[in-house]
Amino acid sequence: MASIKLSGVHKHYRNNVHALKGVDLDIPPGQFLVILGPSGAGKSTLIRLLNGLETPSEGQVVIDGTELTKRNLRSVRAKVGMVFQQFNLVDRLNVMTNVLSGRLGKRNWFTSSLFLFPRSDLELAHKSLARVGLVEKAWMRADQLSGGQQQRVGIARALAQEPALILADEPVASLDPITSTEIMGLLRDICDEQGISVVANLHQLDYARDYAHRIIGLNNGHIVFDGSPEQLDSDAEARIYGRSASSRKEVRHELVLAHA
Ligand SMILES: Nc1ncnc2c1ncn2[C@@H]1O[C@H](COP(=O)(O)OP(=O)(O)OP(=O)(O)O)[C@@H](O)[C@H]1O
Ligand SMILES: [Mg+2]
Repeated sequence: MASIKLSGVHKHYRNNVHALKGVDLDIPPGQFLVILGPSGAGKSTLIRLLNGLETPSEGQVVIDGTELTKRNLRSVRAKVGMVFQQFNLVDRLNVMTNVLSGRLGKRNWFTSSLFLFPRSDLELAHKSLARVGLVEKAWMRADQLSGGQQQRVGIARALAQEPALILADEPVASLDPITSTEIMGLLRDICDEQGISVVANLHQLDYARDYAHRIIGLNNGHIVFDGSPEQLDSDAEARIYGRSASSRKEVRHELVLAHA
């Protein structure tokens, strides 16, 4: 179980981009949080801060009461599973080995470099593959699977880490709508059944509404919405995607006139 707290987090990149502008966020354990926002709003930056791929320019990221620093990065990261838009599997390795690679963060460099895994790791990898329904594909090469199956392997790899938190940066952006709902459903079930927190970036409002416990909206580095799926009304959408409700009405009006 992971609790996450961001206090006064700013992120300046070297090119002078101010990607996050004072983000305060408390995520209780076991929550399925979806981050929405237009392109460039800072969604991926926020996700990368949570596993230490980026460090805040100002402010703190605290996971389970421990501030994320360079020194404890490895131990914190071992508890954080990542799921990627492009799945990030090793194509020429089989599915089982890809899932086992989720254990590497917990092993020393010698056993890892030889890919020597204890029996308990093999059992865990098998269980993770079973959870995503892909045991029968264990010995196939990763690149012989469909996109949806590859994403399931990505989720199994994250589960093999025994994570407290799964971070997913646009996990369904490369998948068709039906496969996308299956993957979103799987992530939500894992969250509900195992109490693993999930933080996911999405571009699809519908999936956010259907699968999130809580939604935050980012715009230009600020949190401009924080609420339940039911609270995400058209005004909130307008705030997140950068138009006021009145200007949206004007646009609609113009469209109606244009088609008249
Ligand atoms: N490594 C980097 N170096 C410099 N600037 C960056 C870097 N990563 C992101 N940025 C900038 O920070 C801002 C926020 O980017 P971020 O990738 O977090 O947005 P996003 O909300 O994930 O967008 P998208 O929906 O397009 O993925 C953008 O202006 C982007 O150009
Ligand atoms: Mg992004």
